[in-house]
This record gives sequence, structure tokens and C-alpha cells, in this order.
Amino acid sequence: MSRVNYQERWYPLEAQESVLDGLLRQGVGVPHACKAGVCQSCLMRASSGAVPEKAQAGLKETLKARNYFLACSCQLEPGMDLEVAGGEELRVPARIEALEPLSADVLRVRLWARAPFEYRAGQYLTLLREDGLARSYSVASLPREEHLELHVRLLPGGAMSTWLSTEAKPGDTVSLQGPAGECFYVAGRPEQTLVLAGTGTGLAPLYGIARDALAQGHTGPIWLFHGARDSRGLYLVEALRALAARHPNLHYRPSVLEGRLEEGLHVGALDALIRAECPKPTGGRAFLCGNPELVLSLRKKLFLAGLSMKDIHADAFLPSASPAAGAGAMPRASNASR
Ligand SMILES: Cc1cc2nc3c(=O)[nH]c(=O)nc-3n(C[C@H](O)[C@H](O)[C@H](O)COP(=O)(O)OP(=O)(O)OC[C@H]3O[C@@H](n4cnc5c(N)ncnc54)[C@H](O)[C@@H]3O)c2cc1C
Ligand code: FES
Repeated sequence: MSRVNYQERWYPLEAQESVLDGLLRQGVGVPHACKAGVCQSCLMRASSGAVPEKAQAGLKETLKARNYFLACSCQLEPGMDLEVAGGEELRVPARIEALEPLSADVLRVRLWARAPFEYRAGQYLTLLREDGLARSYSVASLPREEHLELHVRLLPGGAMSTWLSTEAKPGDTVSLQGPAGECFYVAGRPEQTLVLAGTGTGLAPLYGIARDALAQGHTGPIWLFHGARDSRGLYLVEALRALAARHPNLHYRPSVLEGRLEEGLHVGALDALIRAECPKPTGGRAFLCGNPELVLSLRKKLFLAGLSMKDIHADAFLPSASPAAGAGAMPRASNASR
């Protein structure tokens, strides 16, 4: 049997059970969402004991060196003990500044960080409610802008999105953890072709990356493909058309699967549109965000079209592992062994 010590109590772990699942099973609330080692919302720190390498996959070297690990990817060998603490010291308090609909099912959330929060446009962060409910959101704003901007998709019954759209109000306090992810613009090759593609709120990081690239003087073509089922799923259309009018190298292509053919709107599959507009993206760089299946499929197609894998950056918006993952006030531990 392996054990984990958290808040001065020992908790036994079952064979193959992750630290996160073991703690949750025994009534200990730990922030989490994807349970797949992607979102980093379950970040913890080991104060003693050896952290398995797999539990640090994808973390920044500075976090690894300080013994941070992902509780959902951390399984201990039989007989191993680990003493752990939460990642609270990595969190920055923030105030909700504004909540504003961008479309029927997308909410723009503007936040003001009460302490320095360094990020690159397009990276993602973990947003934590006061009771520990945690979800990842990509950052649509630029670091030099006053507020952090998130685009939150409203899901029927979704714990965080329902709270943000019905209960949260300007002035409320939340916490931010992160940022993480490799989806951001890197200066140095201003003539390079950039392919930005995503569906739904996958636009959030792309909106940040496109504006960041333009602000940094990118001169090569920037293709921004935003897909939705129908035109109600598109948002920021006028803002992006206006941005493209000011920057001739920005080619904004909104696209819907169903609907009437209108000027400036493509009807059909996003991958077909990308293939038609950018048949030879060789030597370019791509950013793919949003629906996990679409991200995976576009990644493969762009690779086959000639892009190098190292030049394809993707953030799949994995859903939380359960409807109420991390929701509700943190339950107190009840049946822990000491
Ligand atoms: C790296 C990363 C970046 C992300 N960036 C964004 C972002 O910028 N904007 C954004 O809106 N979301 C983003 N997400 C997804 C986000 O973290 C939440 O998972 C999602 O918004 C649902 O949270 P919720 O609390 O509202 O609903 P939950 O309570 O988590 O889910 C309610 C129900 O809906 C299901 N569900 C959750 N997501 C989906 C989905 N996409 N399609 C269908 N069913 C679903 C759940 O399984 C559950 O049954 C990102 C995720 C990751 C991992
Ligand atoms: S990385 Fe552990 S819950 Fe997402």
C-alpha cells in the first residue's frame, strides 16, 4: 500500500490510484478538472518523498525543480509515501471586472489581477472560484492590456460557466493559477505564414495570438479560421473584420457548417476551407485551439500538408472529467488514516 500525507493526515491509496483520486475518494477537496494531466489545475507540491517523473510531465522546469507535480498523473509504487501540500502559493487573487455576452453562449470575462500575473497571449490559466472549483481558460488579452480577458462557453449545467453567467458579479474575487501552454506568438520570423484555426471559444487564444503578432510587427500572412456549427456560434465577427481591414496581412475567415451563403462567410468544413486557402503552409507555423477532435484532426492534416510538427502548437479544450469536477465547497476529510 502507498500513502499520501496532506494537511497533516495520512491517506492510503489503492493500487494504481492517483493521488488526486485517492484524496477525492476519501473526501478531501483538491482543485481539478481534466484528470488527464493537461489543465494543470491539480498542481500540488511534494514536501518529502520522490515524485514520479510522469507526474511532472508538461510542467515548467522551475516548477519541477520545486517538486510540484500533477496529482491526477501521480501514482505511487507500493510502499511509497509522499507528503504533499496544495499549490495555493502559486495562485494570484483577481477581481471580476466585467461579465459581458459575446454571443448567446459565450461570455467575455474581464479580470483584474491583484498581483503580477505574467502570461503570453494565447496561454491558458486555471480560474478558481473561492470554494476551489477550477477550470482552464485561454487568455484572449495581451499582457500590456489592463484586464485579462477570457471567453467562456456557457454549457447547460456547466459548473463554472453557469456560476459565471448567473451568480458571479463584478467585484467578486477569484484566483488565477498558471499560466501554461505553448500556444503563443514568438517573434523572430516576421515573414512566416501563420495559420490560426479553432472552433467555438477556441477563438479566445487565437484572438490574442493574432493581435500579439500584429502588435509585434508580423508582416507575413496571418490566416485566422474560426468555425462554428451555424452563424450563432461565431462571435467578434465585426471586431475581427475591422482588425483585418486595418491589417491587410490578416485574413479572417469565419466559417459555418450549416447556413445560408453570405458575403464573407464560408459554409462547409473548416479543414476544407483551410486546404483551399492555404494549400502549401510549408515553413509556416500553426496554432490550433478548441474542440479536441478537431485539433487532433487538423494537426494531422497540416502535418501532411507540409508543416513540421514542432511548428504546430495545439491546445485541446479537454472537458472536465465529471459534471461537478471540483465543484462545491471543499468537503472535509472524514475517513482518513493517521
Ligand atoms: C487547456 C484548456 C483550455 C481551455 N480554454 C477554454 C476557453 O478558453 N474557453 C472555454 O469556454 N473553455 C475552455 N476550456 C474548457 C473549460 O476548461 C471547461 O472544461 C468547460 O468550459 C466546461 O466547464 P463548466 O464548468 O462550465 O462545465 P462542466 O461542469 O465542466 O461540464 C458540464 C457538462 O458538460 C460536459 N462538457 C464539458 N465541456 C464540454 C464540451 N466542450 N463539449 C461538450 N460537453 C462538454 C462535461 O463533461 C459535463 O458533463 C479549456 C480547457 C482546457 C483543458
Ligand atoms: S492536469 Fe490534473 S486535473 Fe487536469
